[in-house]
Order: sequence, then C-alpha cells, then structure tokens
Amino acid sequence: MKGIVFCEFLDMVDTAISPDMTEKIIEQCDLPSGGVYTTVGTYDHDEIITLVAALSKETGAPVAELVKTFGLHLFGRFVALYPQFFEGVENVFDFLDTVDAKIHVDVRKLYPEAQLPSICCERVGEDRLELLYESGRAMGDLAEGLIESAITHFDENISMSREDISSGSVQRVRFVLEKSSA
Ligand code: HEM
Repeated sequence: MKGIVFCEFLDMVDTAISPDMTEKIIEQCDLPSGGVYTTVGTYDHDEIITLVAALSKETGAPVAELVKTFGLHLFGRFVALYPQFFEGVENVFDFLDTVDAKIHVDVRKLYPEAQLPSICCERVGEDRLELLYESGRAMGDLAEGLIESAITHFDENISMSREDISSGSVQRVRFVLEKSSA
C-alpha cells in the first residue's frame, strides 16, 4: 500500500487524538517498516490493518468505524492534494464515474505497484447510482467513508445504503446512492 495512506492515517491519529497515541500504537505493532513511512514509498498492506487494530484496542472503537472515519478524513486530504481531479466536476455521480475510469488509472500510471480496488458505477435512472466495490483487500469501510465524504463535498441531498455481497476472498460491496427530491 502506498505510503501516502499510512502518512495520512498517522496524521489523523496525531490530530484527532494525540501524537502520544500515534507513538503508542506504532510501538505496540511489530511493523516491518518500523512505522516510518514516506508518502511515495510502498509498504505491506497488513501494516495498516495492524495499526488500525491497535488503535481499536486503545480507543475501544470498532475497527470498521475507525476505517470508515479514516475514509472521511482521507477524502478531504485528496481534495487538498489532488485538486486536478475535482476541476470541472460538478456533482458526486459524475465524480464517482471518474474514480475507476480516470483517478485510479492515473494513480497506477504514477505508481505501477499500487493496489487499487475496482469501482464500477452504474446509473439507474437520473436519481440513482449503484457503485460496486471489489477488492482483495477488504477495505469496503474505507470506500464507504470516501463516498460519504464525496457526497458532503459536493453538498448534495443524497442518501446511501450499503449491502455486502462478498464471496470467497474478494470483498464485494454494493453502495446505492439516491438523490432525494427534497
Ligand atoms: C470516493 C472516491 C474514491 C473511492 C471510493 C476510492 C476507493 C479506494 C479504496 C477503497 C482504496 C484502498 C485499496 C483497496 O480497497 O483495494 C483506494 C486506494 C487508493 N486510492 Fe482511491 N478511492 C477514491 C478516490 C480516490 C482519489 C480522489 C484519489 C486521489 C488521487 C485516490 C487515490 C488512491 C490511492 C493513492 C490509493 C492507494 C493505492 C495503494 O495503496 O497501493 N482515490 N481507493
């Protein structure tokens, strides 16, 4: 997994809880990297799982909730770090269409070793978008946080529901986004 994800995760813990907590969880985890990350480096995906599990143990918050909260935070960082992906995009449905078709394609061009999910969007009428998340890394909770934060970013009145349709080692989550007429 790219170092940017680790750096942003540890920054979130620093700011939302405390730098002491960040140090504490890194110390508890026997990480191959030693908990030292650079944004452009690549690290074992298991390290983020180990760090989130340690944070869950320390705070008592469930892992799924922490991963989703991280997704909410990470989206804001993406907006700040990669404004080019948001230029000229006016609504969340159009934005979500670009994730698989453009954003993650560009990420892979920059970092061929990136491990990216499949994000497949289907419009069902004008007011409904169905998004299928598929990945061997089971980060559906991260996807949920990212999508929820995207809805907030575009300031639209959209409700979201989630259904887990996983089979075997691949996590599949269907998110249904519906514009409300109100
Ligand atoms: C709402 C929109 C987005 C969704 C739902 C999404 C979903 C995800 C998820 C769930 C992962 C974790 C890996 C996995 O599950 O297999 C991921 C990885 C990643 N995404 Fe996205 N993403 C979104 C937007 C973006 C944007 C705007 C960027 C900006 C450049 C971006 C860049 C990345 C990067 C760098 C990784 C890490 C790849 C790696 O660690 O090897 N994503 N994405």
